[in-house]
Amino acid sequence: MQFGYFDDRNREYVITDPQTPWPWINYLGTEDFFSLISNTGGGYAFYRDAKYRRLTRYRYNNVPMDSGGRCFYVREGDTVWSPGWKPCKTALDRYECRHGLNYTSLLGEKNGVVARVLFFVPLKTHAEVQKLSLTNVTSAVKTLKIFSFIEWCLWNASTDMENFQRNFSTGEVEIGGSVIYHKTEYRERRNHYAYYSVNAPVEGFDTDRESFLGLYNGWEEPQVVKTGVPSCSVAHGWSPVASHCLAVELQPGETKELVFVLGYAENGEQEKWESPGIINKKKARETLDRFSTAARVDEAFAALRTHWDQLLGVFSLRSGNEKLDRMVNIWNQYQCMITFCFSRSASFFESGIGRGMGFRDSNQDLIGFVHQIPERARERIIDIASTQFADGGCYHQYQPLTRRGNNDIGGGFNDDPLWLILGTASYVRETGDFSILEETVPFDNNPDQTGSLFDHLSVSLDHVVNNLGPHGLPLIGRADWNDCLNLNCFSHDPDESFQTTENKSEGTQAESLMIAGLFVVSGREYAGLCLETGREKEAERALAGVDRMVESVKRHGWDGAWFLRAYDYSGNKIGSRENTEGRIFIESNGWCTMAGIGKEEGYCEKALDSVAEQLDSPYGIMLNQPAYTRYYPEYGEISSYPPGYKENGAVFCHNNPWIMIGETVIGRGEKAWEYYRKICPAWLEEISALHKTEPYVYAQMIAGTDAARPGEAKNSWLTGTASWNFYAVSQYILGIRPEYRGLTVDPCLPAAWEGFEVTRRFRGATYCIRVTNPNHVSKGVARVTIDEKPATSCCLPVFEPGTTHRVEVEMG
Ligand code: BGC
Ligand code: NOJ
Repeated sequence: MQFGYFDDRNREYVITDPQTPWPWINYLGTEDFFSLISNTGGGYAFYRDAKYRRLTRYRYNNVPMDSGGRCFYVREGDTVWSPGWKPCKTALDRYECRHGLNYTSLLGEKNGVVARVLFFVPLKTHAEVQKLSLTNVTSAVKTLKIFSFIEWCLWNASTDMENFQRNFSTGEVEIGGSVIYHKTEYRERRNHYAYYSVNAPVEGFDTDRESFLGLYNGWEEPQVVKTGVPSCSVAHGWSPVASHCLAVELQPGETKELVFVLGYAENGEQEKWESPGIINKKKARETLDRFSTAARVDEAFAALRTHWDQLLGVFSLRSGNEKLDRMVNIWNQYQCMITFCFSRSASFFESGIGRGMGFRDSNQDLIGFVHQIPERARERIIDIASTQFADGGCYHQYQPLTRRGNNDIGGGFNDDPLWLILGTASYVRETGDFSILEETVPFDNNPDQTGSLFDHLSVSLDHVVNNLGPHGLPLIGRADWNDCLNLNCFSHDPDESFQTTENKSEGTQAESLMIAGLFVVSGREYAGLCLETGREKEAERALAGVDRMVESVKRHGWDGAWFLRAYDYSGNKIGSRENTEGRIFIESNGWCTMAGIGKEEGYCEKALDSVAEQLDSPYGIMLNQPAYTRYYPEYGEISSYPPGYKENGAVFCHNNPWIMIGETVIGRGEKAWEYYRKICPAWLEEISALHKTEPYVYAQMIAGTDAARPGEAKNSWLTGTASWNFYAVSQYILGIRPEYRGLTVDPCLPAAWEGFEVTRRFRGATYCIRVTNPNHVSKGVARVTIDEKPATSCCLPVFEPGTTHRVEVEMG
């Protein structure tokens, strides 16, 4: 069952039934001002940090789901309806939600009035603009009242939900014509305020929630809307809100447009006040002036569309397969950009409070968006590295506002440092900018303790080298990529967090084969960077470490038909045929095959066959099998999830691409493609009712075969799945891979494919690549011509910026 359809030409997903199986959302803004918006207009806005600068309230766990948000009420006589169906839920004659790239438009039609609201955050703007167009499609005059409504959050999203003894007394607003200002705490330590405005005279307003709604009413029946008369309430404490009331008359066929702006502004300490107690509104006025007419809004909207044309123009595919093209060209790249902005902080699953920017997450996200915004990737790498400790260890997360490590989640996840190598290498591969390695970067944000970025990479590598266990394999620490494999935790107290408890690291033998594989891949990457920058000795040292690791894996990490997952605290095997539950895991088999460990001995092929036999399911590759059916204190959180969910036997989509890439390492294009398609949202559109989450973006997990409803997804949007899938399909399946000195084209496809075309902008030049497959092979390049001249290698040279080149690649 479907709830809408893809409109590829407009790069939109069009939802035609507001009752989607879960709110299907979109993200607005990619710079400083952000908001989330559902297909009914729900969601929330914030400036830079979803925890510390929350502008509007959102209630997780609410009944019904996704209430509040941005509300518009259209009142005609006694009929009240909302363009996005909610909150009124009055049956509409027509409903449509178009989620596009950083904008959403809602359309509702009732009794001959069409209301369209376009929501977006214009480029370089600290505001969400909402353009409401009302059209009378009847032959009679329409007399309407329009009410807008948002509810302010008292800035800190966490204390906003906890500290009621304070909150109920602090709320303050100011009203100036059609602009409502939210200025809670501005009188003391805050120099920022928010505002909600409309570009037309209002009949009245409301700024106190209960005066607007009525103490015992819900969002669908505010008393003010019911009576049609705004109460012009001024909030003092309690819950400040902002609502405008406008009278609109529409002649037959007439359209009227109103521009609402939800904005944020910061003043310098000296410019805080206009007059005693009255905020200086200069910045708000400037922004409002920029969007004072619908025409100005349209211009800003056109600029946003052009911006996305440019971003998506870096990599564009014509494969003849509609679903593949739409994922590669539009939605997958878009989701990568969103993970860049939000890491794992704010979604309809992540409250924006608990988790800032993940160290490993942000590094992995980078591989998916670096080609679009290399300059911002560069900044991001420096930000991330600045939170690292001098011994190579890391905070697990940092706060976007302060850019400092977040101690609440601690550190000690021993895979974390290695991702910095992969993130940095992917930036250098894309840009050729080796100068980033020489940037001075602090440790733990301490200006007195610094090193070059290269030094940061060295300590990252050494953090593993210096923390090996009894088998010469990496000690796992708090956990590796799998946050829930907590081998030193041994928690019996439900009030303890698995993420921060580590009871027994002394004398531990807990080692990770996943980190081992990751170390081999990133160690080689590091050595490559060394060689490119004249550090031959260091490259040798790194490669010697890599060789030792390969040997240790072969000796102590091979279980006969697949790679072990780990050794536990006491040195017992995990992910072994000796186990009854958790006999085989995806992560170590992904990374060790990506690293090609034991390829000659046939280990990679065998391991991937075992994955196919034991972990594959109709909905993707499951994380482990058999899932744990009881709690094992020695394994930690993983065994706390019921079988089939999350890290215990679900299809954890993030790691499926590791197997896809592993399959391409041994040239099995069919298998890689089959795995790609299985978890790809565009292919899941038809089973939306089961899948539940948006058919245009990946979800973190899909319930595995042990679950009650296999195939049901959760945690969409903010997941490393986005970047890993883009990386796998673009660099390994289509095989277009940036190298330090060029661009390789080396696809690995199902043999039946005829080929494909890709236009790739790389270091300023444009490569028009046509791949043909006349002999129907899966892998191998027989001939390459560049601008009609034969070339000797499938690694294309770096061309003069501004030039365009025709590349023909014949597989065989
Ligand atoms: C989840 C993990 C997540 C972690 C983050 C765990 O409960 O299962 O997927 O990475 O929490 O804190
Ligand atoms: C989600 C976390 O964001 C990520 O860092 C982790 O690797 C996975 N969960 C697996 O536990």
